Amino acid sequence: MRVWDLPVRVFHWMLVILIATSWISAEIGGNAMQIHQWSGLTVLMLILFRIAWGFFGGTHARFSSFVRSPAAAVRYGIGLIRGSREFHPGHNPLGGWMVMALLLSLLIQAGTGLFANDDIMLEGPLAARVSKETSDLLTVIHEVNFNVLLGLIAVHILAALFYLVVKRENLILPMITGDKLLHDDDQSAAPRSAPLWLAALLLGASAAAVWLLVAD
Ligand code: HEM
Ligand code: HEM
Repeated sequence: MRVWDLPVRVFHWMLVILIATSWISAEIGGNAMQIHQWSGLTVLMLILFRIAWGFFGGTHARFSSFVRSPAAAVRYGIGLIRGSREFHPGHNPLGGWMVMALLLSLLIQAGTGLFANDDIMLEGPLAARVSKETSDLLTVIHEVNFNVLLGLIAVHILAALFYLVVKRENLILPMITGDKLLHDDDQSAAPRSAPLWLAALLLGASAAAVWLLVAD
């Protein structure tokens, strides 16, 4: 069954490449900060797209299909520890919250970057719109939140490996191919897909939004 549509998969692996690029370029500093700015802005565009796709995308891309109550997440977590083999074609109730935490942290990261400054080479495109004190504060948030983001990513990757090794369920391959094998007892209805032209339209709108935000 097709679980992760092409836009979700491209979004995911682009994100991985761009976060690595943002991290490496920030470590190098100097002229590499130009690359940092561009990769960061592209992350912002992707996050805006993913938020829109969470409302207009196919079944398993929609927030309404995977954002469950905290109680459901706790119940699922307890079941997981007790060895239950509950199957969810899309994100499970715990994973759903992880996705939201990652998206929020990424939004904060790219959003504060717009206002950040390094006192030397680079000012974020909106830094001049706020006072130096505000820009410095948002720079601190940019630095602190990056560590939060790294922590979330570490838990995220460890969770994927936990399912692979301990639960013997490969979640990683479906994020590449898009497909999951259904369990025999699975009763879920076939997921509805959303058209690719709509994804292209929303991606274009996200790019335009970022451009309008940073254009002088
Ligand atoms: C920069 C690092 C990463 C970030 C920011 C990230 C972020 C995300 C996000 C936001 C989603 C939700 C996808 C969606 O619904 O749109 C997701 C899903 C997923 N990611 Fe990552 N990811 C990263 C690295 C990785 C790596 C290295 C792996 C492989 C080991 C991985 C495996 C997965 C899997 C398996 C899912 C689907 C989870 C499920 O079945 O519910 N991710 N990731
Ligand atoms: C999700 C994407 C982003 C990631 C992962 C990221 C990560 C980082 C990291 C790790 C640093 C180094 C912090 C330190 O010195 O300890 C940094 C600094 C910086 N980033 Fe980003 N960033 C992102 C997006 C952006 C964006 C969109 C902009 C602006 C367009 C931006 C502007 C800056 C600036 C000006 C600095 C220098 C601040 C300083 O020297 O402390 N970043 N970023």
